[in-house]
Amino acid sequence: MTQSPNTNTSIHPALALLQQRVSHPRLTEPGPSQAQLADLYRAAMRAPDHAWLRPWRFIEVSGDDRTRLGEHMAHSARQDDPDLADKQYQKLLNSPLRAPLVLIAWAKISEHPKVPAIEQVLATGAAVTNLINAAHALGIGAVWRTGAPAYSPALKQTLGLTATDHIVGFIYLGTPSGEDKPVPALDPADFISPLPT
Ligand SMILES: Cc1cc2nc3c(=O)[nH]c(=O)nc-3n(C[C@H](O)[C@H](O)[C@H](O)COP(=O)(O)O)c2cc1C
Repeated sequence: MTQSPNTNTSIHPALALLQQRVSHPRLTEPGPSQAQLADLYRAAMRAPDHAWLRPWRFIEVSGDDRTRLGEHMAHSARQDDPDLADKQYQKLLNSPLRAPLVLIAWAKISEHPKVPAIEQVLATGAAVTNLINAAHALGIGAVWRTGAPAYSPALKQTLGLTATDHIVGFIYLGTPSGEDKPVPALDPADFISPLPT
């Protein structure tokens, strides 16, 4: 089902982009240029951020480094679970090869009297959302993935994160392949309610 057409013909172009974004699970070369990537990061840095802690961090993985990331993911998963099935191990090995560029988005958690860790994770998630929407504006395909590697203590250690930091996602970026999927039909009214009495 597609979203009912927006009858507002004077919709702001930025709103039109936000309302039509879809993920692109199938991505091919080329990845974003350095100039485009710089613009995506600028958008990310404008995420709301309690106390301006700037918790967001991005590890860029492209080219042959994607193979190394796949090895890290697979080895870490086996470290976390020695009974990991071979099929799953293989899947993890190949997973970063699904796009020209993978950004590992993570939250560097600081101790702060007013900003608990969850808010720092949320700010990083907001940064990722800004980045994905900016990618959409530039015609760059993106999909946000997590899966077991995002929650792997062994992978965090390999990547140099501390136990309190969080991997927020693996952001796959590249050129969209094939047609965009339809925008799902959602009625905002289904998600809104008055204050309970
Ligand atoms: C925190 C987070 C983690 C996600 N992890 C995965 C994932 O591991 N695999 C996946 O296929 N989609 C994952 N998704 C969902 C996709 O990024 C995407 O939003 C979903 O396929 C719906 O498509 P749409 O964004 O076009 O509506 C995740 C989304 C979020 C916000």
